[in-house]
Amino acid sequence: MEIIRTIEELRSILKRWRKEGLSVGLVPTMGYLHEGHKSLIIKAVSENDRVVVSDFVNPTQFGVNEDLDSYPRDLERDAALCQEAGASLIFHPEPEEMYFADNCTFVDMENLTKGLCGKTRPTHFRGVCTVVSKLFLIVAPDKAYFGQKDAQQLAVIRRMVRDLNFDIAIVGCPIVREEDGLAMSSRNTYLDEKERKAALILHKSLMLGEEMMRQGERNTEVVKNAIVQNIKTEPLAKVDYVEIVDSENLEPVAEMEHPVLVAMAVYIGNTRLIDNFSFEP
Ligand code: PAJ
Repeated sequence: MEIIRTIEELRSILKRWRKEGLSVGLVPTMGYLHEGHKSLIIKAVSENDRVVVSDFVNPTQFGVNEDLDSYPRDLERDAALCQEAGASLIFHPEPEEMYFADNCTFVDMENLTKGLCGKTRPTHFRGVCTVVSKLFLIVAPDKAYFGQKDAQQLAVIRRMVRDLNFDIAIVGCPIVREEDGLAMSSRNTYLDEKERKAALILHKSLMLGEEMMRQGERNTEVVKNAIVQNIKTEPLAKVDYVEIVDSENLEPVAEMEHPVLVAMAVYIGNTRLIDNFSFEP
């Protein structure tokens, strides 16, 4: 399995594949791959002749005080995981390969990017939409794979593909969790032992909310408050947000009538973690 570092080289390989009539799947990642990423790659391998995994810590989606510099990186380990999962190649460009120094073109989105994570990360989705558009234009895959773990990102990408007429099928994949329930994330590596235990409060609180909804509670304020109160029982946790929104347009809802997304971001010490579940009333 090759590691390709330039757009030119990648394009020439893709041209060859296309000539042979092969279908291509794309799995965009920022590297430091875990079983969650692997599940996307395995799904892509099962549905396409060739699979490109992009491994690029995208600077434009990090805010000025965020963890761009400390974001974990380990290309060698990533390559082993990709090979094992059956990927055809890794695209691993340097930032200078992806962005000209005087780059001034971005893909931005209104509405869907303003709430949830967009509230505290106002430039994040502009960076995501921009880099994903660039990857879509470079690779031109038949299908691209994204995790439900980043539920807002998945909804944003689906909307972007619709609005900009990308001829690419977006495949959403379920959240992969550690045995104890913590959603897998490259950022879990920031947690020390105590924080790792405290981080379980995200999934536990979500399960509490889900149980209330299963029992018939449809008032979002009631469920939201119960979730927030539960998170507050963990001294190391600080709520960034807990929201219950319409699954499609991500607008807050008062009563659950359509499919909803229950999403949260919680600081455990200095580490910001996200988790969510979907519910159909
Ligand atoms: P990254 O955080 O590396 O995630 C890459 C893909 O893996 C995303 O689609 C994400 O939702 C999925 N993923 C991460 N953890 C997962 C888990 N526990 N279960 C299932 N899927 C999981 O998301 C990004 O990178 C970037 O924003 C990117 C889209 C690559 C643009 O830079």
